[in-house]
Amino acid sequence: MADMAFSGPEPDLQDLLAARPQLQMHAQDGLCLEGVALNAVADEYGTPIWVYGAGTMRARFAALRDAFKAEAVPMHIHYAVKANDHLAILNLFREQGAGADVVSIGEFRRAGLAGITARDIVYSGVGKSEAELEAALAAGIGQINTESAEEIEMISAIASRLGVVANIALRMNPDVDAGTHAKITTGLAENKFGIAAADIPALYARAASLPGVRAAGIAMHIGSQILSTTPYRLAYEKGATMVRALREAGQNVEVLDIGGGLGIGYQDEPGLNPAAFAATVRQATQGLGVKLMMEPGRYLTGPAGILLASVILRKQAGKRFLVLDAAMNELMRPAMYEAWHGILPVDASAFHAPATPADVVGPICESADVFAKDRALPDLRPGARLGLLDAGAYGAVMSSAYNARPRPAAVLVDQGGFALITRRQEPEALWEGEMIPVPGGA
Ligand SMILES: Cc1ncc(COP(=O)(O)O)c(C=O)c1O
Repeated sequence: MADMAFSGPEPDLQDLLAARPQLQMHAQDGLCLEGVALNAVADEYGTPIWVYGAGTMRARFAALRDAFKAEAVPMHIHYAVKANDHLAILNLFREQGAGADVVSIGEFRRAGLAGITARDIVYSGVGKSEAELEAALAAGIGQINTESAEEIEMISAIASRLGVVANIALRMNPDVDAGTHAKITTGLAENKFGIAAADIPALYARAASLPGVRAAGIAMHIGSQILSTTPYRLAYEKGATMVRALREAGQNVEVLDIGGGLGIGYQDEPGLNPAAFAATVRQATQGLGVKLMMEPGRYLTGPAGILLASVILRKQAGKRFLVLDAAMNELMRPAMYEAWHGILPVDASAFHAPATPADVVGPICESADVFAKDRALPDLRPGARLGLLDAGAYGAVMSSAYNARPRPAAVLVDQGGFALITRRQEPEALWEGEMIPVPGGA
């Protein structure tokens, strides 16, 4: 199962381009992101390389913010750092007024380095270590979304020891099928995430009675790459029902964190419409009188990123293979989720040339190292450049150095120019910190 339910023929190169206002094909300069030629980026910094469009991220943030404004719903947006944790990108969202949603102390520290204050950070995740909780609480974290009775007790003990009070939200598992890939659905009863609705009232009461803990509300996150408002409506209605039930039981409920998961178009289909999403949220939470928070990741960064690669060689072995200098260790999603990513040639002449099916692969010794199968592409020569589209979320963050491949550089395109935001890793950095033990010990 692919991570989206596609029907009908795959879009051709023209369709892919037409569906992405952030991309342009210029006769001379070739493929451009926000008006910046990808050839210029590759000429300066080589390939493979991540290229991110700042204007696209700002525009997507504004679209989401404005959709809630139009519904007169005050919404606190906490960018989900896991989608793309680059300091430059965290800084960009901070400038737009976002807080952060983190799932480790490493992400918490990244958010801090980008200037996001601890009180604007929410700490999510099914398992936080004692050391992580202690560091976050000592730094004054704004809210901890917790998913188990065991963790609530841990938080209480640590906060009491530190002499602080932790704002916590209980993550409710609404048992709703988000209709997404099995590996990114999180809101079903069978998933490891959240607390069953039936267990929330007792746990909430327990949390409210513990020292060092302030039970502030309910959190939810039902999965990722969700393209329909229906599962959201079902989940949020259950969330609102829970808020009312808790209040009727005498509990104080101030916060409803509705999570993230908003899907994007990986082919030429529209992503989740922010206006429709905001209307769904308003309808489900009307009159609830809670502070609403959300945690979008992919929606904000996915379409803004390109993994720019070059063809190493063409191989004809029964079928046509294009072997790239990028591989599954950089962009894991096709291997991990059978995800479909658009691929566009960078040169205009190639873009307009006749296309025939080819498998686009990386050079790694894994049969899963395939970006696309039977993809209609022109005859691209060694050295020709290609853009793997919509790679701004769950791309670089999931990459590894498998096969001793140094991590690529990254560039941020902004206002017609571009700046290096990550240097290409030196090969020597791959074995930095490793030691060969002296026989018999040292
Ligand atoms: C708790 C939580 N919040 C937010 C997100 C962000 O999801 P997305 O990038 O799909 O918006 C995730 C990702 O799985 C998550 O686990």
